[in-house]
Amino acid sequence: SMLRSMESALRRAAGARSFSSGAAPGRKVAILGAAGGIGQPLSLLMKLNPLVTRLSLYDIAGTPGVAADVSHINTAAQVAGFAGEEQLGEALEGSDIVIIPAGVPRKPGMTRDDLFNINAGIVKSLSTAIAKYCPHALVNMISNPVNSTVPIAAEVFKKAGTYDEKKLFGVTTLDVIRAKTFYAGKAGLPVEDANVPVVGGHAGITILPLFSQATPSTNALSHEDIKALTKRTQDGGTEVVEAKAGKGSATLSMAYAGAVFADACLKGLNGVPDIVECSFVQSSITELPFFASKVRLGRNGVEEVLGLGSLSDFEKQGLENLKPELKSSIEKGIKFAKEN
Ligand code: NAD
Ligand code: LMR
Repeated sequence: SMLRSMESALRRAAGARSFSSGAAPGRKVAILGAAGGIGQPLSLLMKLNPLVTRLSLYDIAGTPGVAADVSHINTAAQVAGFAGEEQLGEALEGSDIVIIPAGVPRKPGMTRDDLFNINAGIVKSLSTAIAKYCPHALVNMISNPVNSTVPIAAEVFKKAGTYDEKKLFGVTTLDVIRAKTFYAGKAGLPVEDANVPVVGGHAGITILPLFSQATPSTNALSHEDIKALTKRTQDGGTEVVEAKAGKGSATLSMAYAGAVFADACLKGLNGVPDIVECSFVQSSITELPFFASKVRLGRNGVEEVLGLGSLSDFEKQGLENLKPELKSSIEKGIKFAKEN
């Protein structure tokens, strides 16, 4: 019975709640990089999501095993594994959502931008295939550096004539999950009630948690506490990279975050109202062309990019401080896609 309740908790986490799976339309989700550190637990979590009817697991190798393994779980999603570029088209065809955790992770001492040289090419080739085989799918980009890989995908889709800014998302959910956990821990609040918007981008100081808007609000935290929480959220990825000491970066918490975000996208597609998550999207709420903020999700992807709301002086300063780095990471991605 402990397993039972764990199973139902996992399914709730994966998202059935107020929507019966019987009434929902069939949805195909593809995971590119499905045999990796994130890909495997993400495949597991998406197999547990009752909104998924077909789960397509793609990687350059190893996916037949992951697919066979996950397929034995007694949930509705039909699982198929695809390995090697010649199977990429079949993996993608008919997808409603494509989640991309393909690419190399950081080792201690590296920044996310140090991954650019390898991951930019991977993201470009996967985006080219998406434009060809499932141009209408929502794309959930996990591969780092997100601040550059999202602009690369946008540029590839523009070149292919398939770009729809409502359908391209940089996944920043892990920043939100960290901010919630650290905030609730420090303030002594129940973590399951905590909510904290995180805006900007997904690297170092470009990650800007808005603790002034955190709920439930608290007066238990000093300005020094808020500064420390901000820094811990910004350095959350590095905390894991250092603890793993050369064995990669966050995989399990990222798989959970990726599953939460994909579930929100699925609910939006299915017409569930008031689905709001933070994501790095094409944006006009600042002068930067891409920016993470709260986004309302709907039947076509982004329904509305929500504004920043009111910021504390500390957050206003953080916003100005992050803009030059975020701008240059965006431009680096666009330049790469144009020149390659
Ligand atoms: P990993 O090395 O364990 O797995 C990556 C997988 O990608 C491997 O299985 C590899 O075979 C596959 N891959 C490589 N090239 C591919 C291609 N052309 N097509 C399909 N698959 C390909 O790495 P990981 O720990 O799973 O991390 C993956 C990426 O996610 C990294 O770039 C990492 O920085 C990023 N990441 C992002 C976030 C975030 O918050 N957005 C969080 C954690 C990690
Ligand atoms: C994270 O935030 O955990 C990821 O972006 C991985 C990393 O390199 O920190």
